[in-house]
Amino acid sequence: MPRLFTYSDFAERSEAVRTYADKHTPVIICGQEAKRDKDFVVRVRIGTAAKHPNTSVHHFVYIQLWNLESLVGEARLDTAALGNDPLQIEVPFTVQPAVSLRLIALAYCNKHGLWKSEEHFVKVRD
Ligand SMILES: [Fe+2]
Repeated sequence: MPRLFTYSDFAERSEAVRTYADKHTPVIICGQEAKRDKDFVVRVRIGTAAKHPNTSVHHFVYIQLWNLESLVGEARLDTAALGNDPLQIEVPFTVQPAVSLRLIALAYCNKHGLWKSEEHFVKVRD
């Protein structure tokens, strides 16, 4: 099992370290309620404010969305996809939930490893 980093691992550190953690941490953006079997968009953004480098030697390789132990979707990024400037990558995933969701996002930086979001719960209603 690879080591998983979270923002909270660095929350008590200096501002520079917190910025480093922010630029790697996936954030799940969606509502807390969804309609059963209807399209529901879940956006995953890397970081709340800081932009991550996006060069051929330092970039994100993939962003995944999980519901408990099930992989919901994955976005793979080629070397320096989306240009060469620092950025906050944001990926939309569309799901049609049959039951309530317990979501986690993972993002892998080729220099700084695998980062995990906070859990996000979505209640499904008829
Ligand atoms: Fe990185």
